Amino acid sequence: MQVDGDRFLADLHKLRSFGAAGVGKGVVRPGYSAPDIEARRWLAGQMTQIGLRVEVDAMGNLFGLADGPSLLLGSHSDSQPEGGWLDGALGVIAALEVARAAKEAGGPAVSVVSFQDEEGRFGVTTGSAVWSGHETLASADVLQDHAGVALGTARQAMADMVTGEVASEVFTGFIELHIEQGPSLDTSGEKIGVVTDIVGIRDMKVTFDGQQNHAGTTPMHLRRDAFQAVSSFNTLLNDRLRNVVTPQTVWTIGHVSLHPNASSIVPGRAVFSMQWRDADTDRLARMETIIRETAAEVAQAQGMGLSFGPLLGLEPVAMDPRLRRALEDGAEAVAPGKWRNMPSGALHDATNVARLLPVAMLFVPSIGGLSHTFEEDTDEADLVAGVQVLAHAVSRLGSAA
Ligand code: GLV
Ligand code: MN
Ligand code: MN
Repeated sequence: MQVDGDRFLADLHKLRSFGAAGVGKGVVRPGYSAPDIEARRWLAGQMTQIGLRVEVDAMGNLFGLADGPSLLLGSHSDSQPEGGWLDGALGVIAALEVARAAKEAGGPAVSVVSFQDEEGRFGVTTGSAVWSGHETLASADVLQDHAGVALGTARQAMADMVTGEVASEVFTGFIELHIEQGPSLDTSGEKIGVVTDIVGIRDMKVTFDGQQNHAGTTPMHLRRDAFQAVSSFNTLLNDRLRNVVTPQTVWTIGHVSLHPNASSIVPGRAVFSMQWRDADTDRLARMETIIRETAAEVAQAQGMGLSFGPLLGLEPVAMDPRLRRALEDGAEAVAPGKWRNMPSGALHDATNVARLLPVAMLFVPSIGGLSHTFEEDTDEADLVAGVQVLAHAVSRLGSAA
């Protein structure tokens, strides 16, 4: 099979036009937003054009199905609230190109997917989490975004596209091409990363409830300031995690909401996201204990109410050795001596799909190691190399992978 690099790049730029924003090649296309749904309609049209049967499940996961047993390729087309043009989009458009090239070559059978809300507007990889059975539709429906919108309400915006559930039994495996989103390949000058395993993640909301009051008249020693509690918690936590973590462990407070968020009011309430990631499930659990204990200690010392939201998470997963070998073969053919095996520190739909199917992933470099920012980019020659490796692996595996 022969992939067409120019055709693939043209489609990738077209997908970026839905929600294009910011300087450079930025995108604002969160799950179920108007540009996300518009992009899904365009993708569905592309799938139809190459002879795939379009199916959309209740979550809004978009599939282009080949006839009979097939390999499933893809990723997600939703973005972060401020995202780049490649995170997810690359894997979906690469899948489209490989499916098209395979059709032109007379096989093998390739199906395409764009999962919904991988970027976690409502949770952690919610579209593929529901498709794989990690989460039920009912439990996903009550998840809320930071503005308080429930997923069950948001997904009504694309209800007219829904055709029904999509069974996994027709697929023989799943391969996801993605940008690395970190600095390893860019630093080493290598072109391809074949993923060995994907880290685990935990994510929950934490709330401190203090006392809203006047910022001019309330003496410092009488305040119960919810922002001061978040600040103390963060400093203490960084210190307490030191004995437990490795250089690969990461933790982030990425969203903070202060109430009422006004210059002259001592904030009475702070709700913040607490997320942590590691390859070791035991370490994730030890971190959870430290997080909960530290928050309780701060709440006690500063007279705060404390509550925790549901703990969301995904376990670390290893990639399928046979699919991995096909990607390694492809990497050696396309970029001899310029590829490596590597773990993924980012989460991906492949983690959920691994509950149902053998899965594998490959990475191309991210310039400057940047992602989840408008500045995210990859050299176009590297993007094309990624698609060529994917096509090589698909040819080798055939539809009965
Ligand atoms: C996925 O975008 C992640 O947060 O790793
Ligand atoms: Mn992604
Ligand atoms: Mn992402």
